[in-house]
Amino acid sequence: MSSQTARQSGAGLIAPHGGELINRMVTGDDAAALREEAQSLPRVHMSEKQTADLDMIASGALSPLTGFMVQADYDRVVSDLHLESGLPWSLPVTLSMPEKPTADRLALESHGGELLAVIDVADVFEADRSEEAAKVFRTTEDAHPGVAQVYAEGSILVGGEVTVFDRVEPDFPDLHADPAETRAAFAERGWSRVVGFQTRNPVHRAHEYIQKCALETVDGLLLHPLVGKTKGDDVPAEVRVRCYRVLLEKYYPADRTLLAAFPAAMRYAGPREAVWHAICRKNYGCSHFIVGRDHAGVGSYYGTYDAHRIFDSFERDELGVQPMFFDHTFFCKTCGNMGSAKTCPHPAEEHVFLSGTKVREMLGQGIEPPPEFSRPEVARVLIDAYRSR
Ligand code: ADX
Repeated sequence: MSSQTARQSGAGLIAPHGGELINRMVTGDDAAALREEAQSLPRVHMSEKQTADLDMIASGALSPLTGFMVQADYDRVVSDLHLESGLPWSLPVTLSMPEKPTADRLALESHGGELLAVIDVADVFEADRSEEAAKVFRTTEDAHPGVAQVYAEGSILVGGEVTVFDRVEPDFPDLHADPAETRAAFAERGWSRVVGFQTRNPVHRAHEYIQKCALETVDGLLLHPLVGKTKGDDVPAEVRVRCYRVLLEKYYPADRTLLAAFPAAMRYAGPREAVWHAICRKNYGCSHFIVGRDHAGVGSYYGTYDAHRIFDSFERDELGVQPMFFDHTFFCKTCGNMGSAKTCPHPAEEHVFLSGTKVREMLGQGIEPPPEFSRPEVARVLIDAYRSR
């Protein structure tokens, strides 16, 4: 039996990354005392991305991280896809400051200005952010939205454990579920093999197809749309969530599907973000994770299947969570169903393919894309959203 299997919890769910679900929250009197102390500490104003990262550290979504990265972890993650401890990890999780702090305890303020936490400063270091960009994003161009974000944060980074006394209000309260809660929901339903699905786009038939193919082989499906910060021209989370609600109501078995919000910000780091997304979903209790075409990609920075290949960088069983790879899928008119080049022998003319630009143009004109591309209920939500803009 592999160590990963041996460490599974009594409920049969996969163990969190590193073996233990981190909880960096304090409540009650402890929270009140820390909130009081934080008032008098120097403040760090976090970006929206950092605010989301803090919340995910607090809830254990980023287990085993207990705070923002110190240099030893940062360096090893950037150069070698592992934390200092040797555990796989693919994206830096960092806190930046405009200048070096002089205090060893700092109060952390959300992008909206609420005091949320205290950090015990363990390390202050200057990062080479263009080297980080080259290794993590595979480009140093600031036209890449993830790179632009990293450059905007600057080079002074502060690492150390955080203690959170207040949480940000979730954008979708009914879809808010911390890792402990998704795990409890899976256990209650008797699921142990659960596949996670990340998305930042409106749901179309290809998404539905790969989700359902994966679900055929496991107990349950966690639909986990990312609702943190995305680039300006992505469809807003509120519209995407409405699409999911109408789709689930009509086309998904309620007892095999859980819809919850993933609070992270998008990095658009393609392959590296695919690994990170998989690790985070492992913390939420997923034993499997879907990686399709150009996962977390943007523009033409990554090859269609780079996000599959990166998983070869890890030893078998090192990640614990099992990636489920899917080729580019489409509806084939001759087959009369969805497939990919692996399962459909027909030429491209038989495949229903619409570019993102074409779809946006159709929706803007109130034209529903064909049902082979999008469920009509979803198309109507999108058309309404385009009209009301
Ligand atoms: S992402 O940035 O979150 O990856 P998106 O929401 O478009 O973007 O994709 C969600 C997941 O579905 C990713 O794993 C992606 O690779 C996969 N995917 C999207 N479209 C297709 C498709 N046509 N065929 C196969 N996989 C796809």
